[in-house]
Amino acid sequence: MKEISLTGIKPTGDLHIGNYFGAIKPALELAKTYDARYFIADYHALNTMKNPVELNSTIRQVAAGWLAAGLDPEKVIFYRQSSIPEVFELTTMLMAFTSKGLMNRAHAYKAAVQENNERGTDPDAGINMGLFTYPVLMAADIILFDSDVVPVGRDQVQHIEMAQDIAQAINANYGKPVLKIPRAGVQEYSAVVTGLDGRKMSKSYGNTIPLFAPEKTLRKTIMQVVTNSQAVEEPKDPDTSQIFLLYKLFSDAEEQAALAARYRAGGMGWGEAKEELFRAANRELAPMRERYDAIMADIPALDKILEQGAEKARPIAAATVNRFRKAAGID
Ligand code: TRP
Repeated sequence: MKEISLTGIKPTGDLHIGNYFGAIKPALELAKTYDARYFIADYHALNTMKNPVELNSTIRQVAAGWLAAGLDPEKVIFYRQSSIPEVFELTTMLMAFTSKGLMNRAHAYKAAVQENNERGTDPDAGINMGLFTYPVLMAADIILFDSDVVPVGRDQVQHIEMAQDIAQAINANYGKPVLKIPRAGVQEYSAVVTGLDGRKMSKSYGNTIPLFAPEKTLRKTIMQVVTNSQAVEEPKDPDTSQIFLLYKLFSDAEEQAALAARYRAGGMGWGEAKEELFRAANRELAPMRERYDAIMADIPALDKILEQGAEKARPIAAATVNRFRKAAGID
């Protein structure tokens, strides 16, 4: 039997090519080797997103984005966390085995407290219980589906360790393997995509290249990549050019070698280099953008896909909860 992988997707709007190359593409590769499951962590998002219109549309944008990028709902299980009530039942059960001290040590919570202390405000200011107990809900997401591997970035490793700690405490208490112990699949080499200004591509830096923007917007954005002031005829170094770095994401080795030679020969200005980048980017993104637009144009059909995913997920979830309830004496 194949091992099970689980990918949790926090709904953030306006997906950009950093999300695509850094997270979406490598996560979709998992379906080749694992019994892969993907879900949208919409209740996690509620901790920070209190605007209903925004949250509702972000959930759909992210779901449509993953489908457009190639997630095949026939081959994997794709659902919304909020469609699986067992997640919340399991969360409550896990709470009984989670020490408060463990939550006190969570990086995100500690950082929020530290920020308050530096500002001289109440240490609890702006911290809701959703943030404080975030790792327990995440542990429930993972444990519920008997996950073997959870691919995460470095910042999420602590959360996986906490899920392990909690599951181990439960198995130790009942003297049998009630819950599967997950492991982190750290995405060491997933590309860190740099943005228009050469810093890590991030919404908070405002340096992103959007994934599904109309062609015109894509072109306009690419024209904003920062360059030096070398003149057209000067030879240019591809390896220090942000334009070339981005071009590499969308091209094969042969194309890269050919374009690098043109950089080095001189006679090609930055405008033309950007034009080449746009062509390569649009070649890969245009079909995805078309799929995205088609999915977003039929939200009921999208919701149906997610509902069907939830129907596949729920029996698995129910089995885990029942196993735990039985072990606990609540059956
Ligand atoms: N915390 C993850 C993030 O910020 C999202 C997430 C929620 C998750 N539940 C999960 C990831 C379960 C993996 C498994 O990206």
